[in-house]
Amino acid sequence: MEKLGLNEIRESYLKFFEGKEHLRLGSFPLVPKNDASLLLVNAGMQPLKPYFTGMQTPPSVRVTTCQKCIRTGDIENVGKTSRHGTFFEMLGNFSFGDYFKKEIIPWAWEYMTEVLMIPKEKLYVTVYLEDNEAFDIWSKDTDIDATRIFRLGKEDNFWEIGQGPCGPSSEIHFDRNVELGQIKTAEEFVKAGNEDRVIELWNLVFTQFDKDASGNYNKLKNPNIDTGMGLERIAATMQGTKSIFEVDTIKNILEEVSRVSKVKYGENHKDDISLRIITDHVRSTTFMISDGVLPSNEGRGYVLRRLLRRAARHGRLLGIKNTFLNKLCNTVIENSFKAYPELKEKAAYIKKVIKLEEERFTETLDSGMDILKVYIEELENNNNKILSGDKAFKLYDTFGFPFELTEEILEEKGIGIDLEGFNSEMQSQRQRARAARGHSNYMGNGESQLNLIPKNIETKFDGYDKTKLSAIARVLIRGEEIVTELSKGVKGIIVTEVTPFYAEMGGQIGDRGIIYNDNFKAEVEDCQKNASGKVAHFVTVLEGTLQKDETVTLKVDKIRRTEICRNHTATHMLQEALKRVLGDHVHQSGSYVDEDRIRFDFTHFSALTEEEIVKVEKIVNDNIMQVYNVDTNVMTIEKAKKSGAIALFDEKYQEDVRVVSVGGFSKELCGGTHVRNSGEIGMFKILSEAGVAAGVRRIEAITGSNSIKYLEDKNILLREIASTLKCTEKDITNRLQIQLAELKDKEKEIALLKGKLATSSVDEILDNVRDVKGVKVICGVVKGIDGDALRDLADKLRDKLGDGVVVIGSRVDDKVEFVAMASKSAIDSGVHCGKIIKEVAKIAGGGGGGRPDMAQAGGKLPEKLDDAIDKVPAIIETFVK
Ligand code: ALA
Repeated sequence: MEKLGLNEIRESYLKFFEGKEHLRLGSFPLVPKNDASLLLVNAGMQPLKPYFTGMQTPPSVRVTTCQKCIRTGDIENVGKTSRHGTFFEMLGNFSFGDYFKKEIIPWAWEYMTEVLMIPKEKLYVTVYLEDNEAFDIWSKDTDIDATRIFRLGKEDNFWEIGQGPCGPSSEIHFDRNVELGQIKTAEEFVKAGNEDRVIELWNLVFTQFDKDASGNYNKLKNPNIDTGMGLERIAATMQGTKSIFEVDTIKNILEEVSRVSKVKYGENHKDDISLRIITDHVRSTTFMISDGVLPSNEGRGYVLRRLLRRAARHGRLLGIKNTFLNKLCNTVIENSFKAYPELKEKAAYIKKVIKLEEERFTETLDSGMDILKVYIEELENNNNKILSGDKAFKLYDTFGFPFELTEEILEEKGIGIDLEGFNSEMQSQRQRARAARGHSNYMGNGESQLNLIPKNIETKFDGYDKTKLSAIARVLIRGEEIVTELSKGVKGIIVTEVTPFYAEMGGQIGDRGIIYNDNFKAEVEDCQKNASGKVAHFVTVLEGTLQKDETVTLKVDKIRRTEICRNHTATHMLQEALKRVLGDHVHQSGSYVDEDRIRFDFTHFSALTEEEIVKVEKIVNDNIMQVYNVDTNVMTIEKAKKSGAIALFDEKYQEDVRVVSVGGFSKELCGGTHVRNSGEIGMFKILSEAGVAAGVRRIEAITGSNSIKYLEDKNILLREIASTLKCTEKDITNRLQIQLAELKDKEKEIALLKGKLATSSVDEILDNVRDVKGVKVICGVVKGIDGDALRDLADKLRDKLGDGVVVIGSRVDDKVEFVAMASKSAIDSGVHCGKIIKEVAKIAGGGGGGRPDMAQAGGKLPEKLDDAIDKVPAIIETFVK
């Protein structure tokens, strides 16, 4: 066996299947399209699902890919062993109703034994118990020794993930220890697998069923082939190593981690785990970011955050002091960019995202660790071994401390977490978030309804230049059924062969309007596409009855469509302007346009300044006034990219794409509807700019009549303010300044009065003077004052006390503050305010310090204030000589 590199094996596999008339496709992005149930692509076949089910037509009936995959199911074990990671590449070849077992089995054997030259006596094959056909093909059409084929049950040789294409499989395994003699029975074989003697290399799935939501296996008309071979694993096998971390390209990363941390691999078990975790996680995160995922607290963004933070923490465990992952990703990029050019294209951006997250994590770690320490101390004092769910949740939710980290750190101390309590807090938070998000869309409600549309029905969109046309109503749907008529008052779906209605897509809302003929009239409330791209008009019938196959007129609400077009074209112009003002790292990460406004999410790492916002607005408006023609052209993706057209980050495009250009100003790949000339947009106005996740900003903006209405409203508001202030519009600022100055004076007066009021509690506190080893101590909690007022009060108390120590704490909102003061004689007896206050504040989840005679500190756990003050005498006692 030749020691082939990982990159060489990838190429040899794809070439082999190109030689068998397969179309080579690039890897799809890690973010799955059309599959809300899945966070990240986890198998080569996943992005091809619509081709397997027949929902979409594949570009070729034979396809081969090397697909980026992430599996985070057992993230806790990644690193503990050296066998797998979260990120891997899956080699695969696919037949969509074309070849089947008879072809793939001999090909697979040919590739393994004649291309990779793996000795036949090191290979075993398994087939599904009842799959005689596969068994026969293996034994007759290849030269494998039939005693090396084993039949196994469903748990081993039947492939399915959730719903969708599935079927019996046949696997090719590699024996790592032939010296032990040939394996004779299926039982022995399974045992050898459990003991890691044999490992699975290639899984050939004979996809003959489509599993539906109720768990039925529906026979597919044309059976398919789906195969998967983990590239890292085959590379490890070819390179004669047991560990994927010793595979050439991965080893390069591990060695870099070793260099940076000055920790050698293979010397200490614990360090090895950290080295492997960092190596694996920096791979997965670099790839995720290049596909447009950003760290957040939800979904795949959370997976990314978790991986990055776990890697960062293991970096600390290895003694790395500074941020390092943002440099380490270079090694990942260098090793993989030839197969994944997007890594190099986005290198600067990837680094920036990682750096930002590493910095945030450092901040979070510092403050979270302080709080966790308090919790741990408290648990240990009470001999309690379980951290309550609400505390674990508070750390996660309020302080952004990763849950898994809490878990890991507590585990090291032998402490568990009340998971049930934590989950119920999480649940209620989700409910709150859902309630805040509001309605679910038509798609969510009507998906099964939409999929009733027969696949052979054409539903062409012909609405780029028209808003009205006639067509035959081919399909009518009511509830979950195809019907022959829709009558007055009924809600349903109308499907026509051609339509001017734009179905919601690419962030542009669906059109509304009416569908009618002499006998009937229906209002179109929404327009959506189903999974196979068929357009459905969601209607309520207002008058009469519509029969199937009648001709109808479809008329889009033109005024609304125009507003949508204005917003959509302006969104393109906005993206271009943002790039010009902020830089090339700006990428669209989400967008939504309807008739009222633009919502545009993009990558950028700090809030926009007022000046930048004004600049962006001006660039868009200046170009609107250039009255540029808006042109659309269909061209190849290569040509489009070469011409500088902006493409989406996480999108995999078809061969031919539609490019929308606004004069020479903006050029972008887009399937949406647009104005014919930039002048139609009228005016562009940014309403707000805010952060939505780490590194993602959101701009909301308006155009056209909405911006005119906005200005009118502003005018009215200005007039109202002027009339309330009893001045002219011009004098508003002056008048307000005078009033604010007056207000400030009043505030000063109030503060003075508050201080006087607080002084009255001085006597009460003074009644409580204690003697701690001969030093007079007063301590207490006061309410409602902070900052200077709190310090003044402490001053007064010390004056009244004479010799001794004063420690007072106060709660304001969600924070606590402490002040400590000591007299000279107290200091001589060993008292040090700075040190004392540090201990006191720690109890309330904070820190601070100061001089021996005066110190101040804060804390984050108001509920601990009383407790902290109660402990003051005991703390002072430890200092007094
Ligand atoms: N889809 C099959 C797998 O992931 C090939 O193993």
